[in-house]
Amino acid sequence: MAATASAAVNFEKEIWPIFEKKCVECHRAPFEENGKKKEPKAGLRLDASWAIMKGSENGPVLKAKDPSASGIYESVTLPEDDDDHMPPKGDSLTDAEVKLLKTWIEEGADFGGWIGSKDGMPANVGGSVPGVMRKREHEEFYKSLEAGAKAVPDAVLKAAKAAGAQIAPISTTSTLVRVDFLTGVSSCTDEKVAALLPLADNIAHLDLGRTAITDAALATIAKMPRLARLDLRQTKITDGGLEALSGLKNLNSINVYGTAIGDAGLKNLANIKSLKNVYAFLTKITPAAASGTKGLNVVIK
Ligand code: HEC
Repeated sequence: MAATASAAVNFEKEIWPIFEKKCVECHRAPFEENGKKKEPKAGLRLDASWAIMKGSENGPVLKAKDPSASGIYESVTLPEDDDDHMPPKGDSLTDAEVKLLKTWIEEGADFGGWIGSKDGMPANVGGSVPGVMRKREHEEFYKSLEAGAKAVPDAVLKAAKAAGAQIAPISTTSTLVRVDFLTGVSSCTDEKVAALLPLADNIAHLDLGRTAITDAALATIAKMPRLARLDLRQTKITDGGLEALSGLKNLNSINVYGTAIGDAGLKNLANIKSLKNVYAFLTKITPAAASGTKGLNVVIK
């Protein structure tokens, strides 16, 4: 497809070496030293994707697309004499390293299948969370997803971009794209989502978080056959609206953080056979319903 963005930052090749050199000495799986058990500082491990997503004893340290709300970025940009500057001693990150980290988070903090240490990894993580799918599984999933997806014509791209969408290939060689409206969430309405229909065949990741969409947009989304990841956080969607998504065949993860979704909505989501992960912090989904959905990892806290 046409070049829509420069190559995305590759976590394993570009970010992990920085963490490995400057962070994991203090932020890794517990280990024994001189007969004493050493725990990761602040309960934070940076030696595995699932652990980075889990965060520290104080909560999340990474918010995709939002570096300033991500502790792992904030802490390396603080002045060196600040107590919370990371690393607390030794070499700070170079300007180039800080910029890479920032770009990686802005691009969506995709681990690209990298898992890292499996020490202490919860059983329900491997192979299900998109960011931490086993690498081979990840590659195979996207390869089969891409089969038959023709490159998006330039005119179609242009029209969608004119509607305010940001569009980028999910990897440098892929015909699949990820779409967001981060440059104008409040002006992203149901009509703007409908304007994406000409590229419906190519959309693998769609981020509509904090936009002005309603259930009407879900009917459009139902027409995106290759959609694997959908972010609907803090929108006005309802339980009933989610029923429209039941025909999606490749949806792997959905984020409904901060919406009015409750147990009835979760029931509708459970009808999507391919769905593995539901991120549902600050919703009305009850713990009983969350733990009662077989084969579905529902994260409510
Ligand atoms: C020499 C040990 C050491 C190294 C190296 C180190 N840290 Fe830390 N880190 C700490 C300690 C100690 C704390 C807890 C500080 C506190 O509670 O005041 C901490 C806390 C943090 C926190 C805050 C966690 C929270 O939510 O409270 C983040 C984020 C963090 N480190 C990121 C990093 C990153 C990113 C790197 C690498 C660039 C790094 N650290 C390197 C020792 C280290």
